[in-house]
Amino acid sequence: MSAQPRATKRQRTAPDIQASKGIGRLAVLTAYDYPTGLLADEAGADIILVGDSLGMVCLGLPDTLGVTMDDMIHHTKAVSRAVKEALVVGDMPFLSYQTSIETAVANAGRFLQQAGARAVKLEGGAEFVPHIQAMLAAGIPVMGHIGLTPQQVARLGGFKAQGKTARAASQLVRDAKALAEAGCFAIVLEAVPAEVAERITREIDIPTIGIGAGPDCDGQVLVFHDVLGLCPGLRPSFVKQYADLWTPAREALAAYCEEVRAGAFPAPAQTRRMDAEELKEFGGMKEYGDA
Ligand code: KIV
Repeated sequence: MSAQPRATKRQRTAPDIQASKGIGRLAVLTAYDYPTGLLADEAGADIILVGDSLGMVCLGLPDTLGVTMDDMIHHTKAVSRAVKEALVVGDMPFLSYQTSIETAVANAGRFLQQAGARAVKLEGGAEFVPHIQAMLAAGIPVMGHIGLTPQQVARLGGFKAQGKTARAASQLVRDAKALAEAGCFAIVLEAVPAEVAERITREIDIPTIGIGAGPDCDGQVLVFHDVLGLCPGLRPSFVKQYADLWTPAREALAAYCEEVRAGAFPAPAQTRRMDAEELKEFGGMKEYGDA
């Protein structure tokens, strides 16, 4: 169930999302361009995240490290044009905020100024509190992201679940509290045990949005292409695929290729013919302009 009835038609804001804590569950989807933004918005998502998962699901990259600010701005612009009701959040890519507070504010600002997003998300814990505070001071709402943070894939040696030991879980609780106290309006918890997510959700006063974090978060997020089965190959065990659109899409495209080769497309129904009089005149002409 959405946190608030979506009949209101007013576009969601970061304060709306923050205020929904304890009222209902938030449905969050990623989107990467105009049609995916339109579909996610029409489907009723509360937040549409233009994730840096863009690299993997749209750009054919092995991970998110190769995604640039320019990539993110380009795609966020397209999503923002489509979305009328959800809050659009732009995901800050690798090295767009880690190197300095000034860089972080300037890049976060681009999402709002150039791309139509109304909030940004960044990966990381307490170490980014100064960056978050500077963004908030500039008027940029920030969503946190802890647990598995894919921009750390090289250091972690793969996409590995986090917070599995008592010590690591306690660190996640501390990070979540630091992000909430810094002023984040929500926090993504990725690939952490359900017990850890449940405790964080209970102990902080902003919504938690889980992905691979069990049922007790204040909301859930899934990648658009995973929900619709648009990504061939392996998908994480925590993903629920609600449709297989890859197979019918490939079959439809193959049918088109076959019909073109067989001369079956275009058929009379897809063919425009000239008016009989015009055709007669046209047949008598040597070339265009010949009266
Ligand atoms: O990049 C992304 O899509 C994300 C979500 C999976 C939370 O960070």
